[in-house]
Amino acid sequence: MKDGIDPWSIGEISDYRNLFEEFGIESFEKFREQLSDNRYIRRGIVFGHRDFSRIIKAIHEDERFVMITGLMPSGRFHFGHKMVADQITYYQKLGAEIFLCSADLEAYLIRGIDPEASKKIAVDEYLTNYVALGLSEKNLRFWFQTDYTPLYYKLRDMLSKKITLNELNAIYGKLSPGKIISVITQAADILHPQLKEFGGPRPTIVPVGADQDPHIRLTRDLASRFRKEFRFIPPSSTCHKFMGGLQGGKMSSSDPKSHIALTDEPEVAAKKIMKAKTGGRTTAREQREKGGIPEDCMIYDLLLYHLIDDDSQLETVYGDCKSGALICGECKKFCAEKAAEFLTKHQKKRKKAKKIVERILDEIK
Ligand code: TRP
Repeated sequence: MKDGIDPWSIGEISDYRNLFEEFGIESFEKFREQLSDNRYIRRGIVFGHRDFSRIIKAIHEDERFVMITGLMPSGRFHFGHKMVADQITYYQKLGAEIFLCSADLEAYLIRGIDPEASKKIAVDEYLTNYVALGLSEKNLRFWFQTDYTPLYYKLRDMLSKKITLNELNAIYGKLSPGKIISVITQAADILHPQLKEFGGPRPTIVPVGADQDPHIRLTRDLASRFRKEFRFIPPSSTCHKFMGGLQGGKMSSSDPKSHIALTDEPEVAAKKIMKAKTGGRTTAREQREKGGIPEDCMIYDLLLYHLIDDDSQLETVYGDCKSGALICGECKKFCAEKAAEFLTKHQKKRKKAKKIVERILDEIK
């Protein structure tokens, strides 16, 4: 596909500015200050949005709003996924009603993953880690795309009435029937919370990576086209950057060397960190002279996204790397310690999370 974004094959996005100009994603800058208690927002990792003013208003005026997202149950839950989990719990704490689905239909249609296998991954990997990371069972609705209420499927089928194949091709390029069903299912994921049976029309925020923006555009169009029938409010979105893989390239569930899973033993994580790609120079001497490049460093990304919450401490690491005072070996060791500390605590929390996860699943039986 020439200029579009293909949500199924995207690797890294090198030019985020293009997203603003070409696709109409707006800069998140003006909301940054107001939500600066969120690390990803404060640090510009959440960089874009559509229609976020509706959500800010709902937050400030204590109006009801929805946060909805779907998880692709494709493998082990890693630090890349943690960023989404943290955003979910952030909105939940701000009062959002959380709608969360397992995209097991999409996993089957696009990747051929057996729905029973992906259900297990959704529960053991994703849901359990979400709860351990702070997701509460209150104000939460969880569902499986392959096993939900008829009202949802009825909405999905109706949505297909007001979109043409040409429009879909313009957004996504060529689509197979499976892809068509999976994108319309995703629109139903996002819009069904606004059906009267699920709470009625209200502002909705979908935090996504830039790769998912085509789905947001489609869903916003569909929301407007079904305004008469359902009084849908077009969903808002935020757009975040992705952490790169530990070896450079993409962080992927299927390549253990590219990620640290939240269930990795601290020693395993430490080894992966020691072998990760950094922004360092070829020799220690050169690094002392020229300094490192934190912007190209997977270790710095781990600290920036997850492991250092204190901005001034992060600034010190950044400055010491740039000046050449901090050498990669030392920095990796520090990162490995931070990771070990986090993983040990997290893995304890996972054990406690299991009961809550059972209750969430009982709820939908
Ligand atoms: N397509 C998303 C992914 O690949 C998963 C998903 C399904 C989703 N339904 C959703 C994301 C609704 C946001 C909102 O990860």
